Amino acid sequence: MSADDDARRLQAANPAGWFEDLYAEARAGTASVPWDQPHPQAHLVEWAAGVDGTGRRALVVGCGYGRDSEFLASLGFDVVAFDISPTGIATVRARYPDSEVSYVVADLLDPPAAWHRAFDLVVENMTVQALPVDLHPAATERVASLTGSTLLVLAVAREEGPVPDGPPWPLTPSEIEAFGTDGLSARSVRRDGGRWVAEFVR
Ligand SMILES: C[S@@+](CC[C@H](N)C(=O)[O-])C[C@H]1O[C@@H](n2cnc3c(N)ncnc32)[C@H](O)[C@@H]1O
Repeated sequence: MSADDDARRLQAANPAGWFEDLYAEARAGTASVPWDQPHPQAHLVEWAAGVDGTGRRALVVGCGYGRDSEFLASLGFDVVAFDISPTGIATVRARYPDSEVSYVVADLLDPPAAWHRAFDLVVENMTVQALPVDLHPAATERVASLTGSTLLVLAVAREEGPVPDGPPWPLTPSEIEAFGTDGLSARSVRRDGGRWVAEFVR
């Protein structure tokens, strides 16, 4: 069974809590996590060329195993990275015992009030698309609300039309445009290899 099959099996069995189930099964060795990649997302690396994060705060949404958060910390950012899965956060802390990243269990749909517009950079890589389509508007609005100045959205792209069987539920052009809310405006939005690379600024 593939990692994508594991994700779909667990989502179907427990739509509200399958992320925790997946990280727990992965820890027990009975499932694989599709996004368990050793390297930061290539579009993030490309976007960050020449960026010095010194003195700037970054927030990584739905951080998973920390590939993007560790990369941003290596650029000098003061990084907070959060995920809804306690087992996921425990695992990433164990993987990077000396990490300077602050790893936190938190729900994007109910984030701490202190995070409101608190981060110079917010990176959202494939979290909204991991949620059912009816949750996309609320999740998108929360991502925007956490952004102090720059938001980078990385996601798989799809056309407008019938909702696919997920997970994932890739983002349509209108769903990407929706991040331009709460005072954010699009600085650049492009598709590359079936993925969105979208930057918004306040
Ligand atoms: C497709 S994975 C992407 C992980 C990571 N961004 C990466 O690219 O490696 C989506 C992640 O979002 C997390 N997640 C799902 N719903 C969440 C929520 N409401 N709040 C915070 N994290 C959430 C999941 O536990 C999972 O780690």
